[in-house]
Amino acid sequence: MATLKVVVTGGAGQIAYSLVPLIARGLVFGPGVRVHLRLLDIPPAANALEGVAMEVQDSLFSTVLDGVLATTDEAQAFDGAQVAILLGGFPRRPGMERGDLIGKNASIMKRMGEALERYACHNCKVVVVANPAPTNCLVLSSHAPSLSRRNISCLSRLDHDRMVGMLLHEANRSLSAPVSAGGGDAGARGWRRLGPADVRGACVWGNHSNSQVPDASAVEFLIDGSWVPAVSVIGDSGWLDLSTSTPQGGRVLEGEVSGLAEAVRGRGAAVLGARKLSSAMSAANAIAGHLSDWLAPAAVSVSPSQAVSMGVTSDGNPFGVPEGLFCSFPVHCGGDGEWAFAEGYRLPEEAERQLEASIAELREEKSIVSEMLGEGAATEGSQ
Ligand code: NAI
Repeated sequence: MATLKVVVTGGAGQIAYSLVPLIARGLVFGPGVRVHLRLLDIPPAANALEGVAMEVQDSLFSTVLDGVLATTDEAQAFDGAQVAILLGGFPRRPGMERGDLIGKNASIMKRMGEALERYACHNCKVVVVANPAPTNCLVLSSHAPSLSRRNISCLSRLDHDRMVGMLLHEANRSLSAPVSAGGGDAGARGWRRLGPADVRGACVWGNHSNSQVPDASAVEFLIDGSWVPAVSVIGDSGWLDLSTSTPQGGRVLEGEVSGLAEAVRGRGAAVLGARKLSSAMSAANAIAGHLSDWLAPAAVSVSPSQAVSMGVTSDGNPFGVPEGLFCSFPVHCGGDGEWAFAEGYRLPEEAERQLEASIAELREEKSIVSEMLGEGAATEGSQ
């Protein structure tokens, strides 16, 4: 059986620590696919990286893992890589300007693009997680010209999953409530708890930033074998409305009616505030979902028949977003390394307005990296 060569940059970081066990247990590429894992980090993180490699050895993941390489050498890490998971990036420091952060990470992505171009397999599939993820894809793509833009993606799945999780929470709360005063309890009407496969139509559009557009206007739940609109289950259309804001800093609390979109946008900050650490477990799980839907057979895929949110090239999109950007859209994945823009999604007017602002931000970020990298790093409409 052939072995899949997978490189994870930022291998000593928080997300990698949660992601490696998912890969090693066969939950990303399938239990029948052997993986040679390369964990790359920078020299100051070499000791921590070695510690991760020790823990991998101690975890006896032997059935899927065909070896682990912990390295600070890009040539070794990317050699023949068929999948690249790019977590490595520079964190925002207090007082740092957004443009400076974008520039620092653009330099890292330039190196990653060059390494992909020189050492990786030319059909390598890439997911960029490090922020600013869509703009990092542009830089990467311009420095890895042999790679099709369709092979480069970025993670918006965490925001998508956050939205689905909140919708499920509300739907299950509503379904489990008594039908009416004296009308019997949930058990009496045969209530079944809804899971991720019982939700469709959710999508997060635009940039991976606070300008993202989490749209639930087309969401439906599968109840008793039929798809029904979310409002008829949750019973409060205001909560689903994009223009409704939540006063609780992005936290959806039991019994509270607040704006879903704002809650999704604020979820990362809410987890950080509560945990004092970023949301590494859910980010790793979202990466696993993104990759398994895209690259693994249907049996492993998390959402085999549903559209999911994915940051991809805007080239050829049917939604009116300008070409030459990377942006989060609803896509269908076949588990064979291909994806297609999902059909039948029509944004409501408010969402259209918000998406325009998000696209304006993407264009601004593009002009920042173009200036910093020179050489027309991310020429609109190229390739
Ligand atoms: P972290 O700070 O724990 O780990 C980052 C790692 O990258 C560190 O070990 C660092 O040494 C390494 N690194 C820095 N420069 C590198 C380079 N040139 N080559 C290889 N490694 C390098 O961060 P964490 O929590 O693991 O997050 C990783 C990235 O993912 C961050 O940029 C974060 O903002 C982003 N993120 C994106 C999400 C999304 O939905 N797109 C969700 C959550 C996080």
